[in-house]
Amino acid sequence: MRKPERCPSTEDRAHRKGILLAGGRGSRLAPLTWAANKHLLPVYDKPLAYYPMSVLMLAGIRHVLVICRNEDLPSYRHLLGDGSRLGMVLEYAVQEEPRGLADAFRIGGPFVGDDPVALALGDNIFAGKGLGGRLAAASKRREGATVFAHPVRDPRPYGVLRFDDAGVPADIVEKPAEPPSRYAVTGLYFYDAEVVEIAARLRPSARGELEITDVNREYLRRGRLRVETLGRGFTWLDTGTVPSLLRAANRIKAMQARRGTLIACVEEVAYRMGFIDAAQLSRLASEFSNAYGAYVRGVLERG
Ligand code: TTP
Repeated sequence: MRKPERCPSTEDRAHRKGILLAGGRGSRLAPLTWAANKHLLPVYDKPLAYYPMSVLMLAGIRHVLVICRNEDLPSYRHLLGDGSRLGMVLEYAVQEEPRGLADAFRIGGPFVGDDPVALALGDNIFAGKGLGGRLAAASKRREGATVFAHPVRDPRPYGVLRFDDAGVPADIVEKPAEPPSRYAVTGLYFYDAEVVEIAARLRPSARGELEITDVNREYLRRGRLRVETLGRGFTWLDTGTVPSLLRAANRIKAMQARRGTLIACVEEVAYRMGFIDAAQLSRLASEFSNAYGAYVRGVLERG
């Protein structure tokens, strides 16, 4: 793995790192995923991977490890490069087999080191007013873990929260046949550096995967798990199936048309987060000769 370009100062060392998990088989999307990795597929006007990447960026994270399959490395490098375009530092690591979400911390252990880290699943999309503030607040908490729960009609495919009589999270059940609540744990997790050691001790579940739910349950057992709910003002979209991928594209199109702004335009996010200056944003705008470039240029004009 390539070393970070900057030598971390004491202050830098406290900065949270990010992991974008973009491996997996994408078998539910075949044949779409036979030649292109799921996270490179379009969601309306951007590759899927831009959406979770922009979420990490909104949390103030500039140093990200992208985990993908070996055969997809060239495509990811082509799409995202070393991150310098966006004022970021990107590193890459390979997941040979889809061993589960918690495998991110086995692969990414040396990258995480002693720093807090956020894990974003490559196929989860978040949008909503005030999202940046919620992410920044979660990122500032250096100890323990924070996860975000969102109510869904059918929580069965997810990790689902069980609350006690006082409404306090008491357990998380992975893919329950009979969900104990409607609250699914979404694909964005903030952890302190202890996550690496917790993941190292996990045993594969009955379905043979290292479960992120088991990591979260360990934080819960230690009394160190904070569960935040994302209410009705927030949109959480999973894109694992053909209908959900199309639904996500339609929702993004509708939300962007209504607001007149783009969701997950990484160039805009980099500028607004102070990762790049106006001159760099202007250079990025000139890379495009389409409506996307016009939007990026418009960010400068609109301020
Ligand atoms: P899933 O949707 O559970 O798995 P998948 O992407 O392989 O798709 P399918 O079930 O259709 O075969 O994965 C959720 C996200 O996590 C997705 O963005 C891919 C990623 N992932 C990995 O990178 N490595 C893994 O080992 C697993 C299980 C998932």
